[in-house]
Amino acid sequence: MAIYENLLLDQQNGILFITINRADKLNALSIDTVKEIRNAMQQVYDDASIKGAIITGAGPKAFVAGADISEIAELSEVTARSFAERGQDVFAMIERSNKPVIAAVNGFALGGGCELAMACHIRVAAENAKFGQPEVNLGIIPGYGGTQRLTQLIGKGKAVELMMTADMINAQEALQLGLANHVVPQEQLMDKCVEIMGKIMSKAPLAIGLVIECVNAVFNNDENGYQTEANAFARCCTSEDFVEGTSAFIEKRKANFAGN
Ligand code: COA
Repeated sequence: MAIYENLLLDQQNGILFITINRADKLNALSIDTVKEIRNAMQQVYDDASIKGAIITGAGPKAFVAGADISEIAELSEVTARSFAERGQDVFAMIERSNKPVIAAVNGFALGGGCELAMACHIRVAAENAKFGQPEVNLGIIPGYGGTQRLTQLIGKGKAVELMMTADMINAQEALQLGLANHVVPQEQLMDKCVEIMGKIMSKAPLAIGLVIECVNAVFNNDENGYQTEANAFARCCTSEDFVEGTSAFIEKRKANFAGN
């Protein structure tokens, strides 16, 4: 059983709520915190009673204000590369999870915080959220996948501008750019995330996982996404949930998916 010193974990109705719990440091991602996120995601992967995860930050001010700058300041060329690669691996675990992961962005999502949010499948922002990749202020660049995922999400022109200027954008701007899926008042943030998660959880889990896999294939140069899609479509059609979904439609009733 993993021990968590920097995260709070709470499972309710099939959802694992993962809260980065370093409010006094605006939930900055220490190396230990990133390791704990890996462990929490492993739980999401392994525990059949978990159907999805919502990631947020403790306190009213920050989702995550970046990687922990006091640790970054100590990095050498060798340790910096493995620092980046380890973070990238953990965030890739989130992105590749076949169970949905939603970021509840409740304030600053800067640097590694923006990267963490972007690794999630959906981002819901509170009205006070602020997004940015301010690494150039510190003489570095994003290292947890930010150069790639920001460009994928909002396009090259705006991504390169945000990363070169270190500008922060507010929730409405993030919504316009497609970085945030929704913006809601802060007190409604969790309800909105749970509502979206509930909708997704009412669908066929295998199909949900395969949507994620196929969309991720768009960004994998070694993969033919159309082939991945055709294979995934064929897998769906051999599932019990496919029989249930199509039968429920024909019988004019609500489908009850077992996840097989
Ligand atoms: N790493 C380590 N500590 C951080 C941090 C980070 N990324 N972001 C904030 N903190 C700490 C501050 O050092 C401060 O700690 P202290 O009280 O022990 O001095 C505490 O969190 C509160 O932050 P503070 O700067 O006082 O809050 P603020 O409201 O004045 O400013 C920010 C908020 C987000 C604008 C500011 O904290 C900031 O710029 N943080 C760094 C953002 C960044 O560059 N992220 C990318 C890192 S690669």
